[in-house]
Amino acid sequence: MFEKSYNPDFLEALQVTIESKKPLKKPINRKKTPLIRLRGVNTVYEGEKFPTLYDINLEINEGEFIFIMGPNGSGKTTLLETILGLLPVEKGILEVKGVSAIKKGRQLRREIGYLIQGVEFDPQTPFLVKNALMTARSGRMGLLRFPSKADWKIVRYCFDALRNKEEIADYWDRPIGKLSGGMQQKVLLASVLAAEPNILLLDEPFSNLDVKSRHEIFAMLSRLNKLANVTVLCVSHGTTVPKEVDRVIMIQKGRIVLDNKTEEAIKSEKFKAYCHFMVDVE
Ligand SMILES: Nc1ncnc2c1ncn2[C@@H]1O[C@H](COP(=O)(O)OP(=O)(O)OP(=O)(O)O)[C@@H](O)[C@H]1O
Ligand SMILES: [Mg+2]
Repeated sequence: MFEKSYNPDFLEALQVTIESKKPLKKPINRKKTPLIRLRGVNTVYEGEKFPTLYDINLEINEGEFIFIMGPNGSGKTTLLETILGLLPVEKGILEVKGVSAIKKGRQLRREIGYLIQGVEFDPQTPFLVKNALMTARSGRMGLLRFPSKADWKIVRYCFDALRNKEEIADYWDRPIGKLSGGMQQKVLLASVLAAEPNILLLDEPFSNLDVKSRHEIFAMLSRLNKLANVTVLCVSHGTTVPKEVDRVIMIQKGRIVLDNKTEEAIKSEKFKAYCHFMVDVE
Protein backbone atom coordinates (compact mmCIF):
# COMPACT_ATOMS: atom_id res chain seq x y z
CA MET A 1 0.00 0.00 0.00
CA PHE A 2 2.81 2.41 0.85
CA GLU A 3 5.37 2.21 -1.89
CA LYS A 4 8.78 3.66 -0.88
CA SER A 5 7.96 3.30 2.79
CA TYR A 6 10.86 2.50 5.10
CA ASN A 7 8.49 0.95 7.60
CA PRO A 8 4.92 0.04 6.50
CA ASP A 9 3.96 -0.70 10.13
CA PHE A 10 4.78 2.91 10.94
CA LEU A 11 2.38 4.22 8.30
CA GLU A 12 -0.35 1.76 9.26
CA ALA A 13 -0.12 3.03 12.83
CA LEU A 14 -0.64 6.57 11.49
CA GLN A 15 -3.53 5.38 9.36
CA VAL A 16 -5.33 4.15 12.48
CA THR A 17 -5.01 7.70 13.83
CA ILE A 18 -6.08 9.50 10.67
CA GLU A 19 -9.07 7.31 9.92
CA SER A 20 -9.99 6.79 13.59
CA LYS A 21 -10.04 3.05 12.93
CA LYS A 22 -9.48 0.14 15.20
CA PRO A 23 -6.05 -1.38 14.64
CA LEU A 24 -6.07 -4.39 12.35
CA LYS A 25 -2.98 -5.77 13.94
CA LYS A 26 -2.39 -6.89 17.43
CA PRO A 27 0.34 -5.06 19.34
CA ILE A 28 3.74 -6.44 18.50
CA ASN A 29 5.05 -9.03 20.89
CA ARG A 30 8.27 -7.46 22.03
CA LYS A 31 11.58 -9.17 22.44
CA LYS A 32 13.87 -7.42 24.84
CA THR A 33 16.46 -6.35 22.30
CA PRO A 34 18.91 -3.82 23.79
CA LEU A 35 18.88 -0.60 21.81
CA ILE A 36 20.56 2.15 23.82
CA ARG A 37 23.21 1.53 26.45
CA LEU A 38 25.04 4.06 28.61
CA ARG A 39 27.54 2.87 31.21
CA GLY A 40 29.22 5.34 33.55
CA VAL A 41 28.80 8.22 31.08
CA ASN A 42 29.86 11.75 32.00
CA THR A 43 29.02 14.51 29.51
CA VAL A 44 31.11 17.68 29.67
CA TYR A 45 30.27 20.69 27.49
CA GLU A 46 33.21 22.23 25.71
CA GLY A 47 34.93 24.85 27.85
CA GLU A 48 33.23 23.60 31.04
CA LYS A 49 35.23 22.27 33.98
CA PHE A 50 32.60 19.96 35.41
CA PRO A 51 30.33 17.39 33.80
CA THR A 52 26.69 18.31 33.17
CA LEU A 53 25.69 14.64 33.31
CA TYR A 54 27.31 12.39 35.90
CA ASP A 55 27.71 8.66 35.85
CA ILE A 56 24.72 7.88 33.67
CA ASN A 57 23.80 4.19 33.58
CA LEU A 58 20.89 3.41 31.34
CA GLU A 59 19.69 0.46 29.29
CA ILE A 60 16.80 0.95 26.92
CA ASN A 61 15.28 -1.91 24.97
CA GLU A 62 13.68 -1.72 21.58
CA GLY A 63 9.97 -0.84 21.81
CA GLU A 64 10.06 0.91 25.17
CA PHE A 65 8.00 4.05 25.74
CA ILE A 66 9.84 6.21 28.25
CA PHE A 67 9.02 9.49 29.92
CA ILE A 68 12.06 11.50 31.06
CA MET A 69 11.22 14.20 33.57
CA GLY A 70 13.07 16.69 35.73
CA PRO A 71 13.31 20.40 36.46
CA ASN A 72 14.73 23.06 34.15
CA GLY A 73 18.47 22.77 33.75
CA SER A 74 18.64 19.24 35.16
CA GLY A 75 20.17 17.75 32.00
CA LYS A 76 17.25 16.27 30.02
CA THR A 77 18.20 17.83 26.70
CA THR A 78 21.84 17.04 27.43
CA LEU A 79 20.89 13.37 27.88
CA LEU A 80 19.11 13.24 24.50
CA GLU A 81 22.00 14.94 22.73
CA THR A 82 24.46 12.62 24.44
CA ILE A 83 22.54 9.60 23.12
CA LEU A 84 22.64 11.19 19.66
CA GLY A 85 26.43 11.40 19.87
CA LEU A 86 26.35 15.20 19.57
CA LEU A 87 28.20 16.04 22.79
CA PRO A 88 31.65 15.35 24.19
CA VAL A 89 31.61 12.36 26.51
CA GLU A 90 34.38 12.34 29.10
CA LYS A 91 34.19 8.69 30.02
CA GLY A 92 32.00 5.62 29.90
CA ILE A 93 30.34 3.52 27.21
CA LEU A 94 27.68 4.90 24.89
CA GLU A 95 26.14 2.55 22.37
CA VAL A 96 23.09 2.65 20.13
CA LYS A 97 22.23 -0.63 18.37
CA GLY A 98 25.51 -2.05 19.59
CA VAL A 99 27.68 0.58 17.91
CA SER A 100 29.47 3.47 19.54
CA ALA A 101 27.42 6.66 19.24
CA ILE A 102 30.64 8.60 19.74
CA LYS A 103 32.30 7.11 16.66
CA LYS A 104 29.25 6.46 14.47
CA GLY A 105 26.95 9.28 15.60
CA ARG A 106 26.31 10.61 12.10
CA GLN A 107 25.22 7.21 10.78
CA LEU A 108 22.97 6.56 13.79
CA ARG A 109 21.35 9.98 13.62
CA ARG A 110 19.88 9.13 10.21
CA GLU A 111 17.75 6.49 11.89
CA ILE A 112 16.66 8.56 14.87
CA GLY A 113 13.88 11.12 14.81
CA TYR A 114 14.89 14.03 17.05
CA LEU A 115 12.45 16.78 17.95
CA ILE A 116 14.56 19.74 19.06
CA GLN A 117 13.26 21.77 21.98
CA GLY A 118 11.79 25.22 21.37
CA VAL A 119 12.45 25.77 17.66
CA GLU A 120 11.06 29.11 16.53
CA PHE A 121 10.54 30.22 12.97
CA ASP A 122 11.08 33.68 11.64
CA PRO A 123 7.59 35.05 10.84
CA GLN A 124 8.95 36.22 7.47
CA THR A 125 10.26 32.82 6.39
CA PRO A 126 8.78 31.91 2.99
CA PHE A 127 9.38 28.17 3.53
CA LEU A 128 6.11 26.25 3.00
CA VAL A 129 4.93 23.57 5.40
CA LYS A 130 4.96 20.84 2.75
CA ASN A 131 8.54 21.67 1.75
CA ALA A 132 9.72 21.69 5.37
CA LEU A 133 8.25 18.20 5.76
CA MET A 134 9.82 16.88 2.57
CA THR A 135 13.20 18.35 3.52
CA ALA A 136 13.00 16.36 6.75
CA ARG A 137 12.27 13.17 4.80
CA SER A 138 15.05 13.87 2.29
CA GLY A 139 17.60 13.53 5.09
CA ARG A 140 16.83 9.83 5.06
CA MET A 141 16.36 9.44 1.31
CA GLY A 142 19.84 10.69 0.54
CA LEU A 143 20.85 13.32 -1.97
CA LEU A 144 20.62 11.17 -5.05
CA ARG A 145 16.93 10.39 -4.85
CA PHE A 146 14.27 12.95 -5.70
CA PRO A 147 10.92 12.81 -3.92
CA SER A 148 8.43 10.66 -5.77
CA LYS A 149 4.62 10.80 -5.63
CA ALA A 150 4.82 8.07 -3.02
CA ASP A 151 7.14 10.18 -0.85
CA TRP A 152 4.72 13.10 -1.06
CA LYS A 153 1.86 10.82 -0.08
CA ILE A 154 3.78 9.60 2.96
CA VAL A 155 4.72 13.12 4.02
CA ARG A 156 1.10 14.23 3.72
CA TYR A 157 0.14 11.25 5.84
CA CYS A 158 2.49 12.34 8.63
CA PHE A 159 1.02 15.85 8.45
CA ASP A 160 -2.57 14.55 8.64
CA ALA A 161 -1.75 12.37 11.64
CA LEU A 162 -0.84 15.51 13.58
CA ARG A 163 -3.72 17.72 12.52
CA ASN A 164 -6.60 18.19 14.83
CA LYS A 165 -9.88 17.47 13.02
CA GLU A 166 -11.32 20.73 14.33
CA GLU A 167 -8.55 22.89 12.95
CA ILE A 168 -9.99 25.35 10.51
CA ALA A 169 -7.73 25.44 7.53
CA ASP A 170 -5.50 22.95 5.84
CA TYR A 171 -2.12 24.63 6.28
CA TRP A 172 -0.09 22.28 4.07
CA ASP A 173 0.58 25.04 1.50
CA ARG A 174 1.16 27.91 3.90
CA PRO A 175 4.45 29.57 4.92
CA ILE A 176 5.57 28.00 8.18
CA GLY A 177 6.31 31.37 9.81
CA LYS A 178 2.68 32.41 9.49
CA LEU A 179 1.30 29.53 11.57
CA SER A 180 0.34 29.73 15.22
CA GLY A 181 2.81 28.42 17.82
CA GLY A 182 0.87 25.17 18.31
CA MET A 183 0.53 24.58 14.56
CA GLN A 184 4.29 25.10 14.13
CA GLN A 185 4.93 22.57 16.87
CA LYS A 186 2.71 20.05 15.06
CA VAL A 187 4.56 20.64 11.80
CA LEU A 188 7.85 20.05 13.61
CA LEU A 189 6.53 16.79 15.04
CA ALA A 190 5.20 15.76 11.62
CA SER A 191 8.60 16.49 10.09
CA VAL A 192 10.23 14.16 12.60
CA LEU A 193 7.76 11.43 11.60
CA ALA A 194 8.32 12.06 7.89
CA ALA A 195 11.50 9.98 7.88
CA GLU A 196 9.65 7.03 9.53
CA PRO A 197 12.26 6.62 12.26
CA ASN A 198 12.37 3.57 14.53
CA ILE A 199 13.58 5.66 17.44
CA LEU A 200 11.95 8.93 18.51
CA LEU A 201 13.68 11.36 20.87
CA LEU A 202 11.17 14.10 21.62
CA ASP A 203 12.27 17.11 23.63
CA GLU A 204 9.29 18.91 25.18
CA PRO A 205 6.93 17.87 22.36
CA PHE A 206 3.91 19.47 24.01
CA SER A 207 5.09 23.03 24.30
CA ASN A 208 2.42 25.32 22.84
CA LEU A 209 -0.14 22.53 22.51
CA ASP A 210 -3.66 22.58 23.94
CA VAL A 211 -4.83 19.75 26.19
CA LYS A 212 -6.83 17.95 23.49
CA SER A 213 -3.90 18.01 21.07
CA ARG A 214 -1.61 16.66 23.78
CA HIS A 215 -3.93 13.72 24.39
CA GLU A 216 -4.36 12.98 20.71
CA ILE A 217 -0.65 13.18 20.01
CA PHE A 218 0.19 10.97 22.92
CA ALA A 219 -2.35 8.40 21.72
CA MET A 220 -0.74 8.56 18.26
CA LEU A 221 2.74 8.04 19.73
CA SER A 222 1.40 5.12 21.71
CA ARG A 223 0.08 3.51 18.51
CA LEU A 224 3.45 3.98 16.82
CA ASN A 225 5.02 2.35 19.84
CA LYS A 226 2.59 -0.58 20.14
CA LEU A 227 1.84 -1.30 16.48
CA ALA A 228 5.16 -0.41 14.84
CA ASN A 229 7.54 -1.08 17.75
CA VAL A 230 8.90 2.46 17.64
CA THR A 231 11.00 3.24 20.71
CA VAL A 232 9.95 6.58 22.20
CA LEU A 233 11.87 8.75 24.66
CA CYS A 234 9.76 11.75 25.59
CA VAL A 235 11.31 14.55 27.64
CA SER A 236 9.24 16.96 29.70
CA HIS A 237 9.73 19.33 32.62
CA GLY A 238 6.05 18.76 33.49
CA THR A 239 4.76 16.54 36.25
CA THR A 240 1.85 14.84 34.52
CA VAL A 241 2.91 11.39 33.40
CA PRO A 242 0.88 10.17 30.41
CA LYS A 243 -0.82 6.84 31.09
CA GLU A 244 0.64 5.26 27.94
CA VAL A 245 4.30 5.24 29.07
CA ASP A 246 5.98 2.06 30.36
CA ARG A 247 8.82 3.63 32.27
CA VAL A 248 9.68 6.88 34.02
CA ILE A 249 13.17 8.32 34.40
CA MET A 250 13.78 11.39 36.55
CA ILE A 251 16.90 13.55 36.29
CA GLN A 252 18.00 16.04 38.88
CA LYS A 253 21.25 18.02 38.82
CA GLY A 254 22.69 15.86 36.07
CA ARG A 255 22.04 12.51 37.71
CA ILE A 256 19.38 9.88 37.24
CA VAL A 257 17.52 9.80 40.54
CA LEU A 258 14.62 7.55 39.54
CA ASP A 259 14.26 4.88 36.86
CA ASN A 260 11.40 2.44 37.15
CA LYS A 261 8.26 1.02 35.56
CA THR A 262 5.55 3.71 35.55
CA GLU A 263 3.33 2.12 38.18
CA GLU A 264 6.27 1.72 40.58
CA ALA A 265 7.80 5.11 39.76
CA ILE A 266 4.68 7.12 40.56
CA LYS A 267 4.47 5.52 44.00
CA SER A 268 8.06 6.40 44.89
CA GLU A 269 8.99 9.09 47.38
CA LYS A 270 11.22 10.82 44.80
CA PHE A 271 8.33 11.17 42.40
CA LYS A 272 5.88 12.36 45.03
CA ALA A 273 8.34 14.92 46.37
CA TYR A 274 9.00 16.36 42.90
CA CYS A 275 5.37 16.45 41.82
CA HIS A 276 4.19 17.87 45.11
CA PHE A 277 6.72 20.66 44.82
CA MET A 278 5.64 21.40 41.27
CA VAL A 279 1.93 21.33 42.04
CA ASP A 280 2.50 23.90 44.79
CA VAL A 281 4.19 26.19 42.30
CA GLU A 282 1.48 25.76 39.67
N1 LIG B 1 26.08 24.38 25.13
C1 LIG B 1 26.20 24.42 26.47
N2 LIG B 1 27.38 24.76 27.05
C2 LIG B 1 27.52 24.77 28.38
N3 LIG B 1 26.54 24.42 29.24
C3 LIG B 1 25.35 24.06 28.73
C4 LIG B 1 25.12 24.04 27.32
N4 LIG B 1 23.85 23.65 27.10
C5 LIG B 1 23.32 23.43 28.31
N5 LIG B 1 24.21 23.68 29.29
C6 LIG B 1 24.00 23.55 30.74
O1 LIG B 1 23.70 22.19 31.04
C7 LIG B 1 22.73 22.12 32.07
C8 LIG B 1 21.60 21.22 31.63
O2 LIG B 1 20.94 21.84 30.54
P1 LIG B 1 19.81 21.09 29.72
O3 LIG B 1 19.50 21.96 28.55
O4 LIG B 1 20.21 19.70 29.45
O5 LIG B 1 18.61 21.10 30.78
P2 LIG B 1 17.10 20.62 30.62
O6 LIG B 1 16.83 19.63 31.71
O7 LIG B 1 16.85 20.19 29.25
O8 LIG B 1 16.32 21.96 30.97
P3 LIG B 1 14.93 22.58 30.37
O9 LIG B 1 13.81 21.91 31.11
O10 LIG B 1 15.04 24.02 30.72
O11 LIG B 1 14.91 22.34 28.92
C9 LIG B 1 22.33 23.56 32.41
O12 LIG B 1 23.04 23.95 33.56
C10 LIG B 1 22.79 24.34 31.20
O13 LIG B 1 23.18 25.64 31.54
MG1 LIG C 1 15.74 20.95 27.72
